[in-house]
Amino acid sequence: MTYENILVEKRGAVGIVTLNRPQALNALCAALIQDLGAALDDMEEDQAIRAIVLTGSEKAFAAGADIKEMASKTYMDVYLSDFITKGWQRVTTCRKPIIAAVAGYALGGGCEMAMMCDFIIAADTAKFGQPEITIGTIPGSGGTQRLTRFVGKSKAMDMCLTGRMMDAAEAERAGLVSRIVPAAELLAEAIKAAEKIASFSLPAVMIAKEAVNRAYETSLAEGILFERRVFHSTFALEDQKEGMAAFVEKRKPVFKHK
Ligand code: HXC
Repeated sequence: MTYENILVEKRGAVGIVTLNRPQALNALCAALIQDLGAALDDMEEDQAIRAIVLTGSEKAFAAGADIKEMASKTYMDVYLSDFITKGWQRVTTCRKPIIAAVAGYALGGGCEMAMMCDFIIAADTAKFGQPEITIGTIPGSGGTQRLTRFVGKSKAMDMCLTGRMMDAAEAERAGLVSRIVPAAELLAEAIKAAEKIASFSLPAVMIAKEAVNRAYETSLAEGILFERRVFHSTFALEDQKEGMAAFVEKRKPVFKHK
């Protein structure tokens, strides 16, 4: 399948989605979001795919929601269509792991989309920001909420109220990104991380992802209980039997992903 606003590649067990609207610094227009949703649907259905990398260009992961597209929308337009909820949430409902590989600008909706992924690997050129305040609005796809959980209130307020950008080093210090790599190696490093994840038991990976995400949605006691329940459930996996047997027998496990 070909898309107008993204490039899609399947490399072994890794699916790679590249945002591709270079003329608009990958501004996230409705058609792009639709393409992205369709690509994620396809990758989630494809049993050969066990991890996904979402990336952009050297200059921009994405410079935000498409300002030109939304500039003239009225309150009723955005309220009645629940503007921006639809489609964007597809990234958060994907049950397979998604790594955001970010170079250049990740601003506004671009930063929000990166935060919807499971973790962010940043090029040393990455710049994160929530500049919506500079155009008379506020983040609308989780920026005030997810950024606050990632970096704490003080820095999230700073970013949302001043609209300033954070470079990769500051983003790593603050806990927004998991690691920084040289820009030229960004995609290779992200694919390497995805391949590593894909080499493990897919159900165990999916359960781990679900358990970590639970930490955002519930109290510690409930989260620990959830973790214990799903931890117990991994003992029903063939891959758990294989993984532990392989350790005891001092050999490499051969996961069947079931
Ligand atoms: C539409 C955009 C765009 C955007 C850039 N472009 N960002 N178009 N929506 N968010 C377009 C420009 O209009 C221009 O097109 C082309 O991309 C290149 O951009 P330049 O500004 O010429 O590039 P540069 O001078 O290098 O500046 C880069 C930049 C700047 C600092 C990233 O483009 C910028 O400030 N962009 C807007 C960032 C922003 O405010 N993002 C938040 C959007 S609101 P032409 O045709 O003129 O060449 C948002 C709300 C989310 O995301 C709410 C819920 C999701």
